[in-house]
Amino acid sequence: MRWAAKQKKVVARIKWLTLGALVAAAIGYMYWDTEINPGSAQHTSSSGSGLEKTLIMGTDPGFKPFEYKNGQNVVGFDVDLVREIAKDTNRSLQIEEISFDGLLPALQAGRIDLIAAGMTVTPERAKNAAFSTTYYSAAQRVVVPKTGSTVESVDDLKGKRIGVQLGTTGDTLAHKITGASVVQLPATSNVMQELNARRIDAAIMDNGPATQYLATNPNLTMLARDLTKEDYAIAIKKGNTELLKQVNDSIKAMKKDGRYDALVKKHFGAAAP
Ligand code: ARG
Repeated sequence: MRWAAKQKKVVARIKWLTLGALVAAAIGYMYWDTEINPGSAQHTSSSGSGLEKTLIMGTDPGFKPFEYKNGQNVVGFDVDLVREIAKDTNRSLQIEEISFDGLLPALQAGRIDLIAAGMTVTPERAKNAAFSTTYYSAAQRVVVPKTGSTVESVDDLKGKRIGVQLGTTGDTLAHKITGASVVQLPATSNVMQELNARRIDAAIMDNGPATQYLATNPNLTMLARDLTKEDYAIAIKKGNTELLKQVNDSIKAMKKDGRYDALVKKHFGAAAP
């Protein structure tokens, strides 16, 4: 009799504990869903724009003219492009700054809706993300000091110290060069610093930013040859077919109605390659 009463008490206590745990889990999930994982829901915009939904773009500034800082703001071709996509799909735009090698993980984790970061479409990346139609053709170039460089042609890269931004196609490419010691740095600006200090012999990076850096670094130059030809596209989480279609439709519309050309002119001052 005493034992049965005790057991009843225990059962009641377990019931309360279970209920408590469920309530805590539900509250925790609600918090996670809205605060930590905003990409998971169609949430209201806090920008006061009156738009229903927010489009969260992940990017890594320091890649002029595609994305760079103007004071506190992230600006550039990619930003303007996605701003138009947000407009076309009736969303407000929110930008998250994430280091380049963290962009695809952030997309997969649902922290951002898309990546616009001068990101090259590669078969390897396409395994983990969906890519929009391409919006820009780029190339990898070799940047070297103007005087006294030990690298005068692409063949000279063998066995040299090559600086790259971590996780980029330039990084992958440098690793294929025989005997090269690849110096992986968090940002393209760090690569330029190392090259100016001559702690690396050459840098491999995208032609657009390379051209921009050369304009402000008179001691540096670029080898004539392109190492690769590659295409930039917007990355979207695999399975998010609705957003992928909207992005593609928007890019198509922009190419047709002149908005795309206007952006090229604004950021490159000339026609798209
Ligand atoms: N196109 C190269 C890649 O996809 C480099 C991109 C770097 N982009 C940036 N925003 N830092 O790997």
